[in-house]
Amino acid sequence: MVALTLPENSRYKDMPGRVHKAPAGARRVKTFRIYRFDPSSGERPRLDTFEIDLDACGPMVLDALLKIKNEVDSTLTFRRSCREGICGSCAMNIDGKNGLACTTAIGDCKGDVGIFPLPHMPVIKDLIPDLTNFYAQYASVKPWLQTRTPAPPDRERLQSKEDQEKIDGPSACILCACCSTSCPSYWWNSDRYLGPAALLASYRWIVDSRDEATGERLDMLEDPFRLYRCHTIMNCTEACPKDLNPARAIADIKRLMVERRH
Ligand code: SF4
Ligand code: SF4
Ligand code: FES
Repeated sequence: MVALTLPENSRYKDMPGRVHKAPAGARRVKTFRIYRFDPSSGERPRLDTFEIDLDACGPMVLDALLKIKNEVDSTLTFRRSCREGICGSCAMNIDGKNGLACTTAIGDCKGDVGIFPLPHMPVIKDLIPDLTNFYAQYASVKPWLQTRTPAPPDRERLQSKEDQEKIDGPSACILCACCSTSCPSYWWNSDRYLGPAALLASYRWIVDSRDEATGERLDMLEDPFRLYRCHTIMNCTEACPKDLNPARAIADIKRLMVERRH
């Protein structure tokens, strides 16, 4: 079996798997080792090896996955849609880091490339995590405009450029889950801690000048787990492929909590 540059203590290091050699004559070979698991099969997870000729493959990790699926093993299962870093569906753990397969260049991956589903989530199949709880947590923060006063009869609810800029960043979240699944607090308490993605979404509405449910939104987060399990470890901000800063948003929510008590 081809060796993967995984740390000595990695539980995947000696995982068995099938080996798909590069085609004869391939000159620029890159080795991908990909997590395979079908819970309905009754078989244990395995780590399959695919040797890919980079001269016959696009530049991104998603290109390699598509090539493998189209030409080597059609049973390889993963999510993708836009291939532009916009839909968030191709999030996975690549080369030891959470990221988007479509925006991660193969050339930036050193050595053999290990590809796993997002960490600490139930696996539906291969690289597809079950995001049911993640989406339920997102829905729980009511990520939509809540108002009591009627809208002006002749125009939309407007806001100043400065107020718009406050929500500009958090609105760019693509819900890929790279942040939440890199957060140790979320790993251990994902049933009760909302995690950075849902908290960033909550923050986006808390600071929206048009929203009139700020108090209720903060009340909902006043809980030892939902918000306060964040220990400012910062993995989330490090992991975000859109360069957002969920850790700072969480810190800002905590600050707002303190301010409203005084
Ligand atoms: S800053 Fe908070 S949310 Fe981000 S990784 Fe750390 S504990 Fe998790
Ligand atoms: S904050 Fe970033 S990492 Fe987290 S879900 Fe949104 S886009 Fe993905
Ligand atoms: S395929 Fe849409 S973000 Fe990668």
